[in-house]
Amino acid sequence: MPKRIAVLVSGGGTNLQALIDAQARGELTGGVLAAVISSSPEAYALERARRAGIPGHVLPRGDAGAVTAALVELLKGLDIQLVVMAGFMTIVTGQLFRHYENAVINIHPSLIPAFCGPGCYGLRVHEKALEYGVKLSGATVHFVTEQCDAGPIILQKAVPVLPDDTPETLQRRIMEQCEWKLLPQAVSLFCQDRLAVEGRAVRVLERPALDSAREDNL
Ligand code: GRF
Repeated sequence: MPKRIAVLVSGGGTNLQALIDAQARGELTGGVLAAVISSSPEAYALERARRAGIPGHVLPRGDAGAVTAALVELLKGLDIQLVVMAGFMTIVTGQLFRHYENAVINIHPSLIPAFCGPGCYGLRVHEKALEYGVKLSGATVHFVTEQCDAGPIILQKAVPVLPDDTPETLQRRIMEQCEWKLLPQAVSLFCQDRLAVEGRAVRVLERPALDSAREDNL
């Protein structure tokens, strides 16, 4: 059975689109996009979901505890096995990770641990990279834990920072060359049971974890 994936969004949804396109190309091996859940009824990502025939849902507003409880109930009701945060701007509590341990992933537009953490999102990430003068930046897909942007890293990809970059041009390069490629890859690896979390590190397995375990027991 393919793993059922929910994508959590708040805005434009270009990363959601990358997942939709990867699925259309047959590249989301072992997974199916089953729901898009938005923190805002206005998010353009919901329109992308509608066009792709994926059911869209809007989270009711409230404090973090109430929102998380509603989210978990929705995810369980939809029989979701993987939660993907793709530009999701709502604060959730640890209740989500207790129900979905090592099953919530996020994409961040820098090479973590650089330019991340509370308040570091959107164009601010790229402004900070330019201010610091780094020669490389990129994107990171990681498991989400209670500590902001600090969970085990699944995949990273770097691009050069060019002398005339603005936050906008750097953001665009990172989206096109890193984010839109890495996120479908990471989702597909998860859905094939090819990610093994070992402390802070994530090992990418050649074959699904279950196959290896079966062979070890022969
Ligand atoms: C992306 O830059 C992602 O890395 C960050 O939020 C942004 C979402 O963009 N977490 P989009 O809505 O997928 O276009």
